[in-house]
Amino acid sequence: MQKLLVVANWKMNPSAIGAAQRLTKAIKKGLQRVTDTEIVLCPPHTWLSAIKEELKKSKIKFGAQNSFWKESGAYTGEISVSMIKNLGCSYVIIGHSERRQILGETDEIINLKLKRALKGGLNCILCIGETLEERQEDKMAEVVTRQLQSGLKGISPFSLSRISIAYEPIWAIGSGTPPASPNEIMTAGLFIRKVLTGLYSTSVVQKLRILYGGSVAGSNAAFYIKESGMNGLLVGGASLNATEFINIVKTVSNI
Ligand code: PGA
Repeated sequence: MQKLLVVANWKMNPSAIGAAQRLTKAIKKGLQRVTDTEIVLCPPHTWLSAIKEELKKSKIKFGAQNSFWKESGAYTGEISVSMIKNLGCSYVIIGHSERRQILGETDEIINLKLKRALKGGLNCILCIGETLEERQEDKMAEVVTRQLQSGLKGISPFSLSRISIAYEPIWAIGSGTPPASPNEIMTAGLFIRKVLTGLYSTSVVQKLRILYGGSVAGSNAAFYIKESGMNGLLVGGASLNATEFINIVKTVSNI
C-alpha cells in the first residue's frame, strides 16, 4: 500500500518571501519525525527557490500549483514544466477548481497540461469535484465522470501511476464547513474508483491515491482517512498555519 499523501496548497499566499520561509521552516521542524506520510508543499511559483533551500535535507517534497502545456514560446505569464522541474519540483497540481472556475480552464486544457506534466516527469494531482448547484441537481456522478474521462484521455496506465486524484467538492472549499457526512466522501471516493476501473485495469486503479480536499482541519482530518477511506488530503487554508498543518499530518500519520 502506498503512503498517505498530504498536500499543502498555499494558493496565492503568503505575499512575502520571509513569511514563506518561516512557514516552511516551522512545518519542516514540526514534521521531521513523520516518515509514514508523503508530504508535499505547493507554494506560489515565486517562492519555489526559497522553499527548495529551506527543505534541504528534509523528506518533505514540494510542487507547483499549475504548469503550462507548451515547453516554451510566446505564452505571456505562463510557466513550463521544465521551469518548475529545474526548480526542484516533483509535483504539480492540475485542474484546481479555482483555475477551472475563475480562469476558465476546461477539461481539454487540463488534459493537455496533465499530459505535458507527466511527459516532463512530474507527479500530478488532478483535482475534480462538483459545484453546489451540480450537487443539488444530483449531478456529482455525471460531473466527476466527465472530468475523469476527459482529463485522463490518452493517458497510459503507466502514467496513471504518477497521478493522484483530489476529490474536492467545490461547495466545501474554503467554506470552513466540512461536508456533512463521511459517507458522502466515501461514496464519491468509491465512485471515482469505479469510473477509473472503466478506463484502466483494476490493479492499476487499486494503487492510485484518492485525496480529499475542502476545509480540511486538524479536527476533521482523521475522519476523512479513517471513515471515508481516502488515501490523503489536499489542504488549502489550514496549510498556511504551521501548527494546524502539522496537526493534520500528525493526526493522519498516527492512524
Ligand atoms: P481549503 O482549500 O482547505 O481552504 O478548503 C482546499 C483547496 O482548494 O485545495
